[in-house]
Amino acid sequence: MSTVDTINLEVFRYDPDSGRDSFQTYEVQYREDWVVLDALNFIKDNIDGTLSYRWSCRMGVCGSCGMMVNGYPKLTCSAFLREYLPGPVRVEPLNNFEIERDLIIDFDQFLEKLHSVQPWIVRESDTPVEDGEYLQTPAQLAKYKQYTMCINCMLCYAACPVVGHDPEFVGPAALALAHRYNLDSRDQGREQRLDILLSNKGVWTALSWVNAPPFVPSMSIPQARSSNQRSRESRTITNRSLHLGDRASDRSAAPHSRRVVVDVTSQLFLDFSAGNDVGVHSRVRCLADHLDIKSRR
Ligand code: SF4
Ligand code: FES
Repeated sequence: MSTVDTINLEVFRYDPDSGRDSFQTYEVQYREDWVVLDALNFIKDNIDGTLSYRWSCRMGVCGSCGMMVNGYPKLTCSAFLREYLPGPVRVEPLNNFEIERDLIIDFDQFLEKLHSVQPWIVRESDTPVEDGEYLQTPAQLAKYKQYTMCINCMLCYAACPVVGHDPEFVGPAALALAHRYNLDSRDQGREQRLDILLSNKGVWTALSWVNAPPFVPSMSIPQARSSNQRSRESRTITNRSLHLGDRASDRSAAPHSRRVVVDVTSQLFLDFSAGNDVGVHSRVRCLADHLDIKSRR
């Protein structure tokens, strides 16, 4: 049981009209059962109504409350304040996205990437409606069900150095989504999707990065930040606290950024196990195996 009464939140502010950005510190009451989102809501309701951020469900379902919390992509409705005692808790918009205002990011490009992999059932020819549904066995459903669990929270894009370095890369969630439809017994669009998966925007982008271990996780992320001009300008102030930024040589930082990617894309990277650089390499190689695209290379 903590004896702490209050905790400080250092919250990123960005005003698109003036172009100014800064961190603003708010002292909020501490409650053991509060998550970061509760603290933000407390600020919004009681201290500063101008603070802007997204949230909806408060239960890890809608995917709208993703932010960087002390340097890591988190669902703020699942990140308990007690994990950050005694504070401060630094809250920023997700990395690798343009910032619209304060903690709100622009995810138009993310949606375009999802759309680009044709995330719908593609049929060479439709059967007449009167013939009924396309039936599936439980086993056929089980084959792709795990790939349907994405809540589009974009944490994997904030954690992914390849997304940061190459904004054209379709990214982990879009790859998982493509895979979901490729595995669906009703679908016949796999060849069409391979066109994007095999393009310069697709899986080989990631492969080329992870073919450079052991430096990928710690060296690539600062480079990733440089690809987004406004993000970079806005975030230089954050380098002291982030596991990104200045601490490229800090090897202890790497497992965290990697862990997020592993958590969220483990469905695809089935053979990841070691949590080391070889593991990173092998799991992305597995992605290629899993998508069965080697033969098309
Ligand atoms: S794959 Fe996971 S981390 Fe990425 S958007 Fe979907 S739910 Fe979020
Ligand atoms: S508010 Fe919906 S996932 Fe956090």
